[in-house]
Amino acid sequence: MRKKIVAGNWKMNTTVPEGVELAKAVVAKSVEVPAGVGLIVATPATHLCPVAEVVKGTRVELSAENCADKEKGAYTGEVSAAMVASTGAQWTILGHSERRQYYGETDEKLVEKVKLALANSLKVILCVGENLEEREAERHFEVVKTQTENVLFQFTAEEMASIVIAYEPVWAIGTGKTATAEQAEEIHAFIRKVLADHFGKKVAADMTILYGGSCKPSNAKELFAQPDIDGGLIGGASLKADDFIGIALAF
Ligand code: PGA
Repeated sequence: MRKKIVAGNWKMNTTVPEGVELAKAVVAKSVEVPAGVGLIVATPATHLCPVAEVVKGTRVELSAENCADKEKGAYTGEVSAAMVASTGAQWTILGHSERRQYYGETDEKLVEKVKLALANSLKVILCVGENLEEREAERHFEVVKTQTENVLFQFTAEEMASIVIAYEPVWAIGTGKTATAEQAEEIHAFIRKVLADHFGKKVAADMTILYGGSCKPSNAKELFAQPDIDGGLIGGASLKADDFIGIALAF
């Protein structure tokens, strides 16, 4: 059975003290969430060490929002997968649309990043999703298929067990415009089929596929009720512990 997960993506928000307080509030409220639901907070790199202390020994897992496509060395300003792992984080988000759009993250770089993350025992939340123009041109299936193939088809079925996919339509991120449950389910089921055709039915059935894009407590229930939606990657609403936990309670 695949795992249900609600992951908060804090993006470039909160100072370190604010982040520590937010993590403490999430930990305090996490007891309300049914045991079968995985909870992850993805914080800025500067917050990983202190937040690791807060979540240690609790059910809340820790993630980075990105890591470098190089192992180590003269890459000023980058944070390697080994560095992320050494903070105590178990996860990293990779390929978020904001990284693809503003920081030139290509599928080729993502393959390197996923390789390094897995080599350092980090689990990966890999983001895919079409932008508005692509959706309007009805190219969303093709775009998501290409992103999935370019990155994930470079990995083995065993490695896929350490990877979660987040489908995030770019037009729904931070816009308040959520994909309808039907729109999201249609793509999630499609991604699962793409995986089944390449890796076989078992890998596809076991793959956790999260929805992201203006997910909030009021719409999470309908989204999570879909057979192929296994949880959410939450941006804005993850900055308030009540909203984040409220989303997790939608299961
Ligand atoms: P949002 O962001 O929930 O603020 O739309 C989701 C994301 O980018 O992961």
